Amino acid sequence: MTSTTGRVVAALDGARLWAELHDLAQLGARTDGGVARLTLDDNDIQARLWLAEQAKAIGCQVRVDPIGNMFVHLPGTDPDLPPITTGSHLDSQPTGGKYDGAYGVLAGLAALRAFREAGVQPRHSLEVVSWTNEEGMRFAPGTSGSACFTGVRRKDETRALTDADGISFGEALDACLTRLGEAGIERCPLGTPMQTFIELHIEQGPILERQGAPTGIVTGIQGVGWFECEVRGTANHAGTTPRTARQDALEGACALAAALRNAACDDEDLLRFTIGRFQVFPGSVNTIPERTLFTIDLRHPDAGTLTELEARFQALAAQEWAGCTAALTPLSRIDPVAFPEVVTDVIAEAAAELGQNAPWLVSGAFHDAIHLAGHCPTGMIFIPCKGGISHHPSERIDANDAIEGARLLTATLCRLAM
Ligand code: GLV
Ligand code: MN
Ligand code: MN
Ligand code: MN
Repeated sequence: MTSTTGRVVAALDGARLWAELHDLAQLGARTDGGVARLTLDDNDIQARLWLAEQAKAIGCQVRVDPIGNMFVHLPGTDPDLPPITTGSHLDSQPTGGKYDGAYGVLAGLAALRAFREAGVQPRHSLEVVSWTNEEGMRFAPGTSGSACFTGVRRKDETRALTDADGISFGEALDACLTRLGEAGIERCPLGTPMQTFIELHIEQGPILERQGAPTGIVTGIQGVGWFECEVRGTANHAGTTPRTARQDALEGACALAAALRNAACDDEDLLRFTIGRFQVFPGSVNTIPERTLFTIDLRHPDAGTLTELEARFQALAAQEWAGCTAALTPLSRIDPVAFPEVVTDVIAEAAAELGQNAPWLVSGAFHDAIHLAGHCPTGMIFIPCKGGISHHPSERIDANDAIEGARLLTATLCRLAM
């Protein structure tokens, strides 16, 4: 290990990182031990203000861009060079855990603090980012901040999204920006250049835990398509309408859902097919359903397979199901990415330097890094989570893995920024 990397990694305060993860989890804490910090709600705003306080304590400037992404900046010796950026997201699922997203932001802060403590100023500036609305639960689809930052989605489109109460993303964002402004947080432009982006995250799957590895090097992220399927039938009296006269939208939806799932099963090893929301209207015990809505989350590491399956799904939706008609609407599509070797090799070298056994793996979950990969050389580091469980209050990580992940991030930043 070079003496500089050694000094910075040695200055990393793992106990403080662990304590801060649990301090932050108080903002939006659920009684079951989980976290509900929905995009741009009061807990999310409190978390942003908390991040700004931590950054100021390290002597770093904090700025916010027009979509609400927050950047903590540690200046390098050459101000003309683009920053090396790390980070993740502070929003959570409604029944989320303490570490999904938050871990990557807080470990980034811990790394910046380690540079300060070691008295090392890198050549490139270092930045920690917290992207807005990764989860997409209050405003769908997610990854809004990183998608707008990289030009994958338009800001006006995103501002027009509404939550279940009819509040627009734009209204909620403006209220948040006002509060951040009152706290003295300055604005910065959208889509500024980055030298490299590294996201550290919990794996949200079982692979690293099964391998007994404290960290993993992510080779890429599989692609994902979200769809909404509507099945239309005819409402009528549940007791009097004979079978031959029924167009039951739930019966049609069940048959179509089973056919879609069967079509997806051809490639069971790699393909992921999930119906996560199913709604029946009018939702009366003694009325035949008139309309059924369900969502599909479809994932595969190959873009061509996703496209082929979408065509097969459309063909199935065009058929008649129990006398009902159906329509399949794409909600969002993100193509798979492979991270470049110029980044994964640097992470691998840093892991070797730290003596870590860091296997290579593909990410099953999407992350903001999927968009950043089109903006600058990007990579990801994973740590295990207990039982592979996430998006649930029982999400857990091991303190030692959390510290090893932060050490690997810090050593990687040293290699990239010096
Ligand atoms: C995002 O968390 C996903 O669904 O992969
Ligand atoms: Mn996440
Ligand atoms: Mn998540
Ligand atoms: Mn995610």
